Amino acid sequence: MSTFENEELYYIAKMREIVRTRSEALGRPMTACVVTFGCQMNARDSEKLEGVLSRAGFVITQEEDADFLIYNTCTVRDNADQRVFGRLGRVSHYKKRNPMMKVAVCGCMMQEASNVEKIKKSYPFVDLIFGTHNLYQFPRYLCGTFEGTGRVEDIWEAADRIVEDLPIRRKYSYKSGINIMFGCNNFCSYCIVPYVRGRERSREPREILREVETLAADGVKEIMLLGQNVNSYGTGLDTDVTFPMLLNEAASVKGIRRVRFMTPHPKDFSPDLIRVIRDNPVIARHVHLPLQSGSDSVLKRMNRRYTKQQYIDLAQRIRHEIPDVSITTDIIVGFPGETAADVDDTLDVIEKVGFDNAYTFIYSKRRGTPAARMEDQVPQDQVNAGFNRVLEAVQRNARMRSIALQGQVHEALVEEVNTRNEGYVSARLSNNMIVHVPGDASMIGKFYPVKLSECRGFYYFGEITGDERY
Ligand code: SAH
Ligand code: SF4
Ligand code: F3S
Repeated sequence: MSTFENEELYYIAKMREIVRTRSEALGRPMTACVVTFGCQMNARDSEKLEGVLSRAGFVITQEEDADFLIYNTCTVRDNADQRVFGRLGRVSHYKKRNPMMKVAVCGCMMQEASNVEKIKKSYPFVDLIFGTHNLYQFPRYLCGTFEGTGRVEDIWEAADRIVEDLPIRRKYSYKSGINIMFGCNNFCSYCIVPYVRGRERSREPREILREVETLAADGVKEIMLLGQNVNSYGTGLDTDVTFPMLLNEAASVKGIRRVRFMTPHPKDFSPDLIRVIRDNPVIARHVHLPLQSGSDSVLKRMNRRYTKQQYIDLAQRIRHEIPDVSITTDIIVGFPGETAADVDDTLDVIEKVGFDNAYTFIYSKRRGTPAARMEDQVPQDQVNAGFNRVLEAVQRNARMRSIALQGQVHEALVEEVNTRNEGYVSARLSNNMIVHVPGDASMIGKFYPVKLSECRGFYYFGEITGDERY
């Protein structure tokens, strides 16, 4: 093992040998498929899984009947769990057709003992189960799964260290997420993330910046700094680095044209951060600022640690300092004890802030969280009524914000070929708005000035008004 820099690389090399021998016997390459169920952080983990798999010699495919299939799960709401169980039901058929196939389940859902039990009982064909804290051990588990006979299962209660340098296979050539921290210490009372992702840990700034530089050298133009509560970045590190400092430095790396970040918490959104965004045009004109509720009493029971007025003031300060910014949000409807009057407060914030977009979720009871133990869970018909009111307000405001951009010219980064409209590509503005323009695959990853000519609610059809911008 001494010739290898670390244990992970040793197991990747070992797996390479296994894949090579089996491919030869099969007379075809071995394939692997990674399915992501969760948030951006979950997606970034999937890129690490794919990195390991492709380094081990697997051909990565989107087809689930691959020789190795792994579900990277999410458990933030019950419907995320149900989606995984639903999909797993089909997997036994693939396995019958290809008895050599190995199936793995990892990610947030596996940090819950009851889910692991359910998989073992109802889906006994699953060969490998691991959680979030030991993802870096994946190369070892992978070897064990192909070499051994029984199921490999390893769930850790907490993370022991931050492992740098796992191979990564990026989904997009021109943009990439970057973890700046892991875990969460906020314990919003409805949320399971702190339990399945553990305590907050920040990566060293020099490691992050090194990664940004490597990505830039590899042609990446847009990065997204990822964490559950990015504004508390730096806590626990030896240096005095803060999130605004890191953001500014990341945005100064040569070759990086756009920097996004997800997710800030309103309670920690400092004037410094507003200033840094305002003064650095590389930083996207977009702030995703989860509101959750506009009612003070609900916010208090959610343990969000801001009031309705503080949130409105913050949003207005952001809009005042950065006039072309878009503000998007997350809203939960049906939190225990929520009344129609509480929903009125949420509607009031929607009207006052005028969100450019919002994700609206129905409250989902998560076992082990404080909210799950609260009495007066809201009856379903009342939840639905509240949800529809919120959705109507969100959509109306988003359309208003959107139509106001009609006729403007913005710089847009082309992301992909538009599969619904032949001859079109989809591009994204700094403010996160999507615009479809005539074009082809050769434009992917390039910036163009685009005129927003035809508003279609939350997105635009447009036209390119000039040459590619370097
Ligand atoms: N750290 C981020 C994102 C957390 S999960 C934040 O602080 O906002 C993404 C969104 O899922 C949350 O913003 C919240 O709106 C929603 N969510 C989390 N737990 C939920 C639950 N139990 N029921 C419904 N929605 C939930
Ligand atoms: Fe969950 Fe709150 Fe942490 Fe976001 S900040 S991950 S909502 S506990
Ligand atoms: Fe889901 Fe885990 Fe992300 S629970 S939202 S995948 S941190």
